[in-house]
Amino acid sequence: MRIILYLGKGGVGKTTVSAATATAIARSGKRVLIMSTDVAHSLADALGVELNPKAVEVEKNLFAMEVNVLAEIRENWTELYSYFSAILVNDGASEVVAEELAVVPGMEEMISLRHIWKAAKSGKYDAIVVDAAPTGETMRLLGMPESYGWYSEKIGGWHTKAIGFAAPLLNRFMPKKNIFKLMPEVNEHMKELHGMLQDKGVTTFRVVVNPENMVIKEALRVQTYLNLFGYKLDAVVVNKILPQHSSDDYLTSLIAQQRKYLKVIDDCFYPIPILKASQAPHEVIRTDQLHALSSQIFDGSKPDDILYKEEKTQVLEKVDGKYVLRLHLPNVEITKLNVNIKGDELLVDINNFRKSIVLPNILIGRKTEGADFDQGHLNITFAN
Ligand SMILES: Nc1ncnc2c1ncn2[C@@H]1O[C@H](COP(=O)(O)OP(=O)(O)O)[C@@H](O)[C@H]1O
Ligand SMILES: [Mg+2]
Repeated sequence: MRIILYLGKGGVGKTTVSAATATAIARSGKRVLIMSTDVAHSLADALGVELNPKAVEVEKNLFAMEVNVLAEIRENWTELYSYFSAILVNDGASEVVAEELAVVPGMEEMISLRHIWKAAKSGKYDAIVVDAAPTGETMRLLGMPESYGWYSEKIGGWHTKAIGFAAPLLNRFMPKKNIFKLMPEVNEHMKELHGMLQDKGVTTFRVVVNPENMVIKEALRVQTYLNLFGYKLDAVVVNKILPQHSSDDYLTSLIAQQRKYLKVIDDCFYPIPILKASQAPHEVIRTDQLHALSSQIFDGSKPDDILYKEEKTQVLEKVDGKYVLRLHLPNVEITKLNVNIKGDELLVDINNFRKSIVLPNILIGRKTEGADFDQGHLNITFAN
């Protein structure tokens, strides 16, 4: 069984690429579920069918569902939900505002993750493709070995803040209870899911980008944090690539700009495979068009293969009390090397290519102390 998660900035084509991947897997004869956990639902539009939280078979072997996190919280987590709204109302919030705010941060992502766990455990599918919400919350949740521990802590902090001065009053009408116990089984599920997501033979993450500066930067951040948390990025999908030539000035200038950023993508994500899809002159909807898009993207490789099997591209270690960032750069010969820090970015110039890395928070503000290259690895040491 394979789990493939697509991440990336909004609008880059995550939903489209996820749906294309799932269609290709289904048409290769395997049972696949595509699940959208993004609140901004567009999977139904991409597939051209109505979807709901129960999986429907769109065509042979292709199952799809849209998780409606907010409705689910309202329906299945009522106790927790009303507990929080009651606290908020007591704190002076109007009922409407209270209901809006009672969705605890992190809860949406956790419910989404739980759906992945359920589908994976069901044994019904050869592959699960997840069109994920690309938020920092998801990344942080993925980062915790025991996500639930982090989650309960978060609720704890939020809870204390929400009660504030109203605590004595609240305690009178609402007995203090352990709200974490309201979700007893979640802990186990989260741990199990975490194991599956870290299993490199099962789960791989892919990031979707367009040849645009800000989009690339977000993708680099995704790469940094995935690596830091022990997950595997196995491909970068560059979507919406314009044709090579145009007689139109406006398009010619956009094409030149894209060319520049395509080189940036090649340099920055090396040695991870880069897959490409062109900007279609029309919407890419329904399975036939999605399938055509997938043939471009995978171009001979299988959509459910693990596309990058080498070691992680970035590893952060502590050596003799100092942080060392180890970059995997196979088949690179270094004759010229320059390392610079600009804000939260580390710029590594090697010969005539430039790799840019978004630094994890713990490295921001530190200076580099030295860099050495050894057997395909560039080790950069940071000062304390
Ligand atoms: N390769 C492509 N060619 C043309 N239009 C595309 C392509 N990929 C995505 N789109 C369109 O771009 C819009 C955003 O795509 P979507 O997959 O919803 O992005 P995301 O899920 O990342 O927000 C949609 O209207 C979609 O049809
Ligand atoms: Mg989407």
